[in-house]
Amino acid sequence: MSECTDNWSAVEAAARMVLGAPIAAFIDDCRQQPNSQSQLIAVLHKVQSQYGYLADTHLDAVAQLLQVPAAKVAGVASFYHFFRLKPRGKFIINVCLGTACYVKGAERVAQKIIDELGITWGETSKDGVFTLEGSRCLGTCGLAPVVMIDDAVHGTVTPDQVPAMLEKYLEKAKRDSVGQTRPA
Ligand code: FES
Repeated sequence: MSECTDNWSAVEAAARMVLGAPIAAFIDDCRQQPNSQSQLIAVLHKVQSQYGYLADTHLDAVAQLLQVPAAKVAGVASFYHFFRLKPRGKFIINVCLGTACYVKGAERVAQKIIDELGITWGETSKDGVFTLEGSRCLGTCGLAPVVMIDDAVHGTVTPDQVPAMLEKYLEKAKRDSVGQTRPA
């Protein structure tokens, strides 16, 4: 076996370990397609749904296994807004910035969240619990101003309610982390 083949085996094994067996198998399937490179976006979606975001190591591993230039993978990942290149928090806070919510004080609610967490739009709190995002109308204008945290809708939120609202999720994050470290 040549040194080159050995190197490729090691690179391939490392890439499979980084992505995990199910995604590596998906890429194997994609490579059977006539134009495997056209599957790049589908592969990146899979990686993101598995890991929450696309780390540099994920992008390199995809490039290796799909046999696509690393620059192309990085370019596609950064071009489309639906791909995330940074880790997200355990809970995603989505403040509605649609017209109805804006008129009812969404900006003040958002500012209170920003002050409480010490982060701004698109950022994740240092403890990794919250990521703050904004969105257009969430479809519940009757409850304006609306804040969604993961799938839970919080309606008619006032700035004064923000600390208690965040505290509930912090408590949940603590409970979950204790549950994870508790022996089975
Ligand atoms: S504008 Fe906020 S829910 Fe519609």
